Amino acid sequence: VSSDFGFRHAFESGGAPALLLLHGTGGDETDLVPLARHVAPGSAILSPRGNVSENGLPRFFRRFAEGVFDLEDVARRADELAAFIADATAAYDLSKPVAIGFSNGANIAAAMMLRHPQALAGAALIRAQPTLTPGTLPDLGGVPVLMLAGERDPIVSAYDCSGLAATLEAAGAEVRLETLPAGHSLTQLDVDILKDWLARLT
Ligand code: MLT
Repeated sequence: VSSDFGFRHAFESGGAPALLLLHGTGGDETDLVPLARHVAPGSAILSPRGNVSENGLPRFFRRFAEGVFDLEDVARRADELAAFIADATAAYDLSKPVAIGFSNGANIAAAMMLRHPQALAGAALIRAQPTLTPGTLPDLGGVPVLMLAGERDPIVSAYDCSGLAATLEAAGAEVRLETLPAGHSLTQLDVDILKDWLARLT
């Protein structure tokens, strides 16, 4: 664990694609490491801890209430994360990473892609919802995006989820959206689909 490049983070060397792990609210840089090792053994891992604390719970951007986002902060934190990725991938000599984001981590990944379309080689967005909607869409140039929604998710509605999928698609991403018989939490089906999607990426 190191605090360099603006984020406390975990790093494990390994092969391509490097995985950028973005935890949910209250998680940290260790949370998604076992998942990443399971779905892509051998991949390098870069896992930052969100810089925002909500009553002691780490997050990647501020919110005023559940589902009410501080959009200025989202933009600023998305830019910080893009700078972290550029600096850390250069320092650790990593390929452009594929993000695996859960909940708040998925939301910052999507916001970052819309502001920095070159930052990621792909993204798996688990239980994501829209935050920023740019006036002018970037060109995501076919970047693969897996979106996994939960049909009983009390935090993210199906409407919000498909709205984000539509925005990313309109920006040129190659989006696969799956709605699973699940709530907000990760399920075994998420893990299985994620593993399969990653295996087909190259
Ligand atoms: C957010 O705040 O990003 C979303 O509501 C997901 C979460 O609960 O973290």
